[in-house]
This record gives sequence, C-alpha cells and structure tokens, in this order.
Amino acid sequence: MATDTIHELHQRRKRIELGGGEKRIAKQHQDGKLTARERIRLLMDEGSFSELDAFVQHRCSEFGFERIEAPAEGVVTGYGTIEGRPVYVFAQDFTVIGGSLGEMHAKKICKVLDLAVKTGAPVVGINDSGGARIQEGVDALSGYGQIFFRNTRSSGVIPQISAIMGPSAGGAVYSPALMDFIFMVDQTSQMFITGPQVIQAVTGEEVSAEELGGAMTHNRVSGVAHFFAEDDRRCIAEIRRLLGFLPSNNLESAPRLECCDDPQRWEERLNGLMPESPNKAYDMKAIIAAIVDHGDFMEVHAQYAANIIVGFARMNGNSIGIIANQPQHLAGCLDINASDKAGRFIRTCDAFGIPILSIVDVPGFLPGTNQEYGGIIRHGAKMLYAYSEATVPKVTLIVRKAYGGAYLAMCSKDLGADMVYAWPTAEIAVMGPDGAANIIFRNELNAAPDKARARAEKIAEYRGRFATPFIAAARGYVDDVIEPAASRRMIIKALAMLAGKRETLPGKKHGNLPV
Ligand code: HXC
Repeated sequence: MATDTIHELHQRRKRIELGGGEKRIAKQHQDGKLTARERIRLLMDEGSFSELDAFVQHRCSEFGFERIEAPAEGVVTGYGTIEGRPVYVFAQDFTVIGGSLGEMHAKKICKVLDLAVKTGAPVVGINDSGGARIQEGVDALSGYGQIFFRNTRSSGVIPQISAIMGPSAGGAVYSPALMDFIFMVDQTSQMFITGPQVIQAVTGEEVSAEELGGAMTHNRVSGVAHFFAEDDRRCIAEIRRLLGFLPSNNLESAPRLECCDDPQRWEERLNGLMPESPNKAYDMKAIIAAIVDHGDFMEVHAQYAANIIVGFARMNGNSIGIIANQPQHLAGCLDINASDKAGRFIRTCDAFGIPILSIVDVPGFLPGTNQEYGGIIRHGAKMLYAYSEATVPKVTLIVRKAYGGAYLAMCSKDLGADMVYAWPTAEIAVMGPDGAANIIFRNELNAAPDKARARAEKIAEYRGRFATPFIAAARGYVDDVIEPAASRRMIIKALAMLAGKRETLPGKKHGNLPV
C-alpha cells in the first residue's frame, strides 16, 4: 500500500482526535472539565480502548450545517477493559458543536449500547452536551428516543452507568435517568428538564443553573443522582470502583476479590456499641464498618434520605448490597424518600444477583400529613414489593428496634428473608413500648393516683415482656439471637450457606411495582 495512503489515514485520525480544536479544548480545561478523550483514557485500563465510528459524519444540511465539520460527530465511542473486564463507553465531546446530539451521534451511541447488551458487558455513558442538535430537528429527537428504548430494554441485563460531566438539559436527562446509576460532578454538571430562563419566563422564579440542577441539588434534594464527585478525575475513579462491585451482566456473578480480612473476625467493640437508652442515637455506619471486609463500604445516595443507608461492600471477598436504618436521622424512621431509595437499591441488587444484607433499627414509618398526602402508602409499598420480589440471598440482622409495618418492610422472615439474626438488644413488637402501654393499659393508667409513675411502670413492664428478640425467636421469625461481636462471622457463614440459592418467580409478563 502506498505510504501516502497510510499517511492520509493517520492525518484524518489526528484531525478527528483533536475534536473541536485547541481553542475549544483550552476552554473545556478552563471550565474545569476534561475532554471526552481524556475522560476515556482515565476510565479504561491503560491502552485498552478501541474507538469505533471515528469517521462517522452528520447528514444535516439545514441552516448552513452542510459546511460544518463535526469530528467523530461529537461523541467518542468504543470499548476497552476496566480491571481486565470488557466495558463499553460513549463520551460526548462538548468541544464539537457543544456535544449536541443529532441523528448520527445517536446512531453511534446506539451501536455501543447494542454491542454491550449483545456481549453482556457494562456500558458507561459520559454526558456533556447542549442536548438535541437544534438544526437536526426531529431526527435529533428520534435519536434520543432510540437511546431511551435501548436503555430500557437493557435494564437489568447489563449495568448502565451514567456520568454527568457538563450540561444535560431537556429530555436528554432521561437517558441517564433510565440507567442504573448517575454520577455528577460538583459545579460543572447540571441536569434539568427546563432551564433557569424558561422557569423564569413561565413561573417568575429566579434560580441559578447550579442551584436548579447541580450535583449537590440532585444528590441531596431530588435524589436523581446517586454519587457526588468533586471533579472529573475523582468521578471516574469512583465509576471504576463501583464497577468492581457489579457483575458484567445478569447471568454472571460479581467478581470475587481475594479476601485478607479474617472471615472469623470477632468484633468485641460491637458488644458495647448499643447505647443504654433505647432512644439514644448512634451511627449505623460504625456497625457496617465493623462487619464488612476491611471496613470498605461504597455508599450509594449518600446525601439523600439519610435515614436509610444503602451501598455496596464485600463479605469474605464477595459483593453484597447493604440496606440499613440510620438512627442518627429521623430516628431511622422510614419515609417516602427512604422507601424510594431503598426500593430502588434492592431491585438493583436483585437484578444483578447481589445478595442483600439488611441491618434493622427502625421505630416505624414517619408519621405526619406530609407523608400521608405525599403517598407514603404507595412509596412504602415499593420496599415491601422489592424485598418480596427479590430472589437473591437475603440476610437480615436486627440490632435494636423493629416495630410494626416497618419491621416487616425491612426484610422480615415473612418477606422472604432466608436468615434473620437478632442481637439481644433487639426489640421486635407491634409498636414501641410508650405507645403500646398507653393503649393496652389505658384503664389502669386513668385510674392510677400517680399517673406518671404508673405509666413509667407499665412501659417498663411492656418493654420487659415484649420488646425483646426472644418472642420472635420462639416463633422462628428470628433464626438465632447472636452476640453482636459474632455478627461478621455469622453473616459470612449464612451467605456461604445461601450461595446456591435458586428461587424463581411465577411466570408472568412482569409484576406491577407500585410507583
Ligand atoms: C446545536 C448547540 C447546542 C444545541 C450548544 N450548541 N447546544 N448547537 N444544538 N442544542 C453549540 C453552541 O451554539 C456553540 O457553538 C457550542 O455548541 C458551544 O456552546 P456555548 O453556548 O458556547 O457553550 P456554553 O456557553 O458553555 O453553554 C452551554 C449551554 C448552551 C448552556 C449548553 O450552549 C445552551 O443553552 N445550549 C442550548 C441548550 C438547549 O436548549 N438544548 C436543547 C434542549 S431540548 P459555537 O459554534 O458558537 O461554538 C432537548 C430536547 C431533547 O435537548 C428531547 C429528547 C426527548
């Protein structure tokens, strides 16, 4: 082959790899953002990335667009490996027409989504785009529709991870929303359906883009995003970490890491962790850290609905999902947001065959008109539904309160927990001693000369008789009451025993999750 043909190939590729050119790359860096290609280089194992469709071009000839060159069509796509496992990626290139999405840009994304599902490998989508390419009109809209369709059809088959590393506006936000996890970067990423100007024109409200749809807003307020990162580099490192907890697809297991944390480890500090007073808060994360391998816990939705904790860890090297009440926030009550957060996480774990550990200290559902009017009934039902539907191994550890419907909702035996352990400090009953004493001893309390003293005595009587793990254990709702220090070894043993669990749901098109 003539050397000038090869030379031309290299020249063409070089031009494409320069994206929107030096000036726009410099602007991207000035704005605190890496370029699409820099992001991919950090994401993938060194030297593993193979680009696809670098030579694709748009076909738009409206508004003078036929004269506009869009290297790689504004999106870099391809495949490579992360920790040696195949992963597909698409990264929108903001330096090329603002990363806007037209017909061919969408086709490139659809190609990697199709390949990912065909070969059973995760896909990472890096979003940095002005949205639908306005000049391409309905072709751009159709492109989004095709992506949404594939995101949905691949849901539960391969992990789909979305990183928002720039603007993501209008209907464009729905591709990330249809994926499994959303990462956002502080100050440089925004997601909204309608931007600040439209909001001001329609409602008169004044709000900045960051306040409206920045990383903190979606991590803390709306719960749209699952992870918050300070910058692009940390965001990409966390994506790599997350993938380590997930299998490549729904038919495989998550990778097992060699474990050098003793599976028999006796955690004496757990024996003294529970406060004397049942109304005193403590940090549930201390229990999680003491139980899991090396104390390593990757929290999901860390800033949202802090009354429940969800995230990934490993036990004896195997990936697990943890759902735990947090007594430090709202006393660990379940509310609308906590139910949504937990329900979603349970289904993510179940879809990808990741065993679930639930750690329970829950006084009940949060009372109040806000909650009732907001639909706590249908939101709370999501947790019941998700736990009941999940067929992965389910281990529950009740450490303190487990009252009423919330006891059931936190993966009780009746919702299909395979193994339920309780600490001696567990209080498993229909309701807390205060409320229960008021109802069942009402007549005696009314007649008592010293009501306060009588009430305290009755509460103590109820607590002694009912607020223990032993009544539940006597009926087999609790499989064993264990010393707190033994929790790690007991849970590891239970998970090993359950590793071969096979359970299938009745044949149906799909269930009808309350939404
Ligand atoms: C075509 C676009 C574009 C778009 C940006 N550009 N968005 N071109 N279609 N949607 C171009 C700009 O014209 C500019 O080109 C270059 O990209 C960089 O954009 P700037 O505006 O210079 O960058 P910046 O100041 O950082 O502002 C970024 C931005 C702004 C906030 C995203 O560009 C913007 O508001 N864009 C429009 C956003 C929007 O309304 N999109 C449609 C959303 S509706 P030059 O040549 O000047 O450098 C939607 C519907 C999807 O997406 C529906 C799916 C169902």
